[in-house]
Amino acid sequence: MTTRPLRSSEWFAGRDELALQNRSALRSMGFDADFYAGKPVIGIANSWSELNNCNLNLRDLAEAVKRGVIAAGGLPLEFPTISLGEEFMKPSAMLYRNLMAMDIEETIRSNPIDGVVLLCNCDKTTPAQLMGAASADLPTIQLNGGPRTVGNWRGQPVGSGTDMWKHWDDVRSGKMSREEWNELERCISCGVGACNVMGTASTMTSLSEALGVMLPGVSSLEANDARRLAAAEATGRRIVEMVHEDLRLSKIFTPAAFDNAIRTLSALGGSTNAVVHLIAMAGRRNIKLPLNRFDELAQETPFLVNCSPSGKYLMDAFHAAGGVPAVLSELKSLLKLDCLTVTGRTLGENIAAARSHDSDVIKTLADPMAADGALAVVTGNLAPSGAVIKTSAASSHLMQHRGRAVVFNDYDDMLARVNDPDLPVDADSVLVLRNAGPKGVPGFPEWGMIPVPQKLLEQGVTDIVRISDSRMSGTSYGTVVLHIAPEAAACGLLGCVRDGDEIELDVEGRRLHLHLDDAEIQKRRAEWQPPPTQHLRGYPRLYIDHVLQADEGCDFDFLRPQSDAAVEFVPP
Ligand code: FES
Ligand code: MG
Repeated sequence: MTTRPLRSSEWFAGRDELALQNRSALRSMGFDADFYAGKPVIGIANSWSELNNCNLNLRDLAEAVKRGVIAAGGLPLEFPTISLGEEFMKPSAMLYRNLMAMDIEETIRSNPIDGVVLLCNCDKTTPAQLMGAASADLPTIQLNGGPRTVGNWRGQPVGSGTDMWKHWDDVRSGKMSREEWNELERCISCGVGACNVMGTASTMTSLSEALGVMLPGVSSLEANDARRLAAAEATGRRIVEMVHEDLRLSKIFTPAAFDNAIRTLSALGGSTNAVVHLIAMAGRRNIKLPLNRFDELAQETPFLVNCSPSGKYLMDAFHAAGGVPAVLSELKSLLKLDCLTVTGRTLGENIAAARSHDSDVIKTLADPMAADGALAVVTGNLAPSGAVIKTSAASSHLMQHRGRAVVFNDYDDMLARVNDPDLPVDADSVLVLRNAGPKGVPGFPEWGMIPVPQKLLEQGVTDIVRISDSRMSGTSYGTVVLHIAPEAAACGLLGCVRDGDEIELDVEGRRLHLHLDDAEIQKRRAEWQPPPTQHLRGYPRLYIDHVLQADEGCDFDFLRPQSDAAVEFVPP
């Protein structure tokens, strides 16, 4: 328990005219000093928005959080933030992740807040909040909105995103009628909440829990489960205690906690996007997560969770099987259990009683989905700073592959030609998409799961090696190499590949190589021209000028601390 004065007392406790003004502002909202004086002010950052269906239950949760804050002796003040909805935002919600992080950090920094509750759900809202809050470094707890109810189509459960991609390929290859496709549309999203597969949203909220920023067992609770409201109330109670304990995010975001998160990501068979987000989140505390740390830890962490898109079950089954605490419990021997969490206890204490209730959904270390993790990092002349492949969702027969490049210069080029019957492509080709990276678009969209060309689908080919400087949705799958760094628009060699060049992917050897001699590479580099951009002003311009490459987390260069000392929170 701290005896330090509350940060908010700098606004409210003085006797001068500024303090009077601040107190009268609270009175204007109907708060009497008898109610709030001396109590911690809890900011509730709400990313509710009707432009984001995934976060639409956050208003109800905010009310329950407030109940908890008041019951524990705090003053809750809710504030809106930008919301990032994957479905609607173009070209990608990722373009705005850093903007949301700035919104969160600066709102916390500039206001009389002692502790923060972060209400998140859809993919980017979770890391954006944690990045901003990590820089502000007050006592912080996060709560998600939860996965949406699982839909059912013709007797089969259907998962958000993943089953849509699968059935879309069925439509394209003539196995599914348009009528059935329309019917699927009415069945696949049966309520608000996050995608109910282990996509980016569920991966990131699971990792928030594994990092120790969310109460144990909460992340996978379904959006409309009444227990989520109770969890919100508990979250509200807990943040007040955390302020009294001065339990800041910097005590939770440690190198050991991030190692635990990387292992959890691997065990989940989670989204490749988490690699970029974890690097960015850790970077806010000056913790370096090189890509090879992901590869190293993934290799020694079995892939355990049998959830779509890497496995077969959906998030309802994951929760029933014990959720994140059960995964962490299985991983116990590999984790650093003394990491402090928002409960005030260690990770080890939090999961002492946890276990898997269904070993087909959450597998055991002795009988995993795969022994050596779910993702790999490849490097080579095409990706000197690395690229990522989700091995758990790739085809084993393509893990070692050499094929001729079919190059799409950008997304529009790909859309225009990928289904052209004359495209010179066969099952051994390597599809290349470039100028789809952080600076190239800008915004690093999820275009990396290039569709299998129509003519190959018709021949029964369902997977083909695809490489790009883009990302892919956490709900996607296939033998897809992503996040190639440096990207084409940052002078990466990817920009120099031509049709017919030979490309080698060797996942076991961790290699991605363009078979060209040095003289030809020099010649092509000399001829290379940066892609034109129409973004000459505004936020996209700021983004192009300051975004870091994928292997550095795509944060803005000026948002990362220059030293440990610079991470310390500086009051306004
Ligand atoms: Fe929002 Fe999937 S689109 S969680
Ligand atoms: Mg997504």
